[in-house]
Amino acid sequence: MRHGLLLTVLLAATVTGPGAHARAMPDPSQTPAPGNEVPQIPLSRAGYGPAVNYQLQCAGCHLSEGQGAPRNDVPRMTGFVGNFLRVEGGREFLVRVPGVSQSALGDDQLAELLNWILDRDGMAGTSTPEDAAPYTAAEVTRIRATRLNNLPDTRAHLIRRMHDQGIAIHDGMPHEDLLDNNDNGDSQ
Ligand code: HEC
Repeated sequence: MRHGLLLTVLLAATVTGPGAHARAMPDPSQTPAPGNEVPQIPLSRAGYGPAVNYQLQCAGCHLSEGQGAPRNDVPRMTGFVGNFLRVEGGREFLVRVPGVSQSALGDDQLAELLNWILDRDGMAGTSTPEDAAPYTAAEVTRIRATRLNNLPDTRAHLIRRMHDQGIAIHDGMPHEDLLDNNDNGDSQ
């Protein structure tokens, strides 16, 4: 009997203790705060075009024209990013960088956004090869499913391949490793 009483007291203490006030489940009778009645639409269903998605999801780091910020390790995309399509593995790399693969955008939106960035009349300019095929949603789905291991080495390898092809590395980043390359794009 005494044990039963002790158990009851302990149980009551547990239920009424501070933890009991934290609600794990949403309260079904709860109503949204005034002005907040309409649930937010996730970005993947908001229906914005690539230019808006870029400003919302990418420009914070890459800046509004893709100029990048070398001092924050963000490479320049303007007039350069299309060169990744000129080297083996570059097409996959562009989808697998964390800013792209882990964005809140759907695969169809990412395909559209990458095509917008890589447009020869847009950010990438003529760095994109003339015959480059646009990304499709299915392609993005496939590539995005594999994670990028060792980003710095992968990127350095791709940059080295570009350099070996005689492409000027205008990504705004320091390239002491490319010894015979005096032009790292900082003159722009
Ligand atoms: C938190 C900052 C950040 C955000 C947000 C971000 N990126 Fe990036 N992005 C980087 C950095 C830093 C790199 C260089 C590679 C690395 O270290 O990840 C990069 C690399 C890239 C590259 C490869 C180009 C290169 O020269 O390496 C592409 C393409 C790219 N980002 C596109 C995007 C797009 C598109 C978005 C938006 C959907 C985006 N990024 C959002 C920081 C960001």
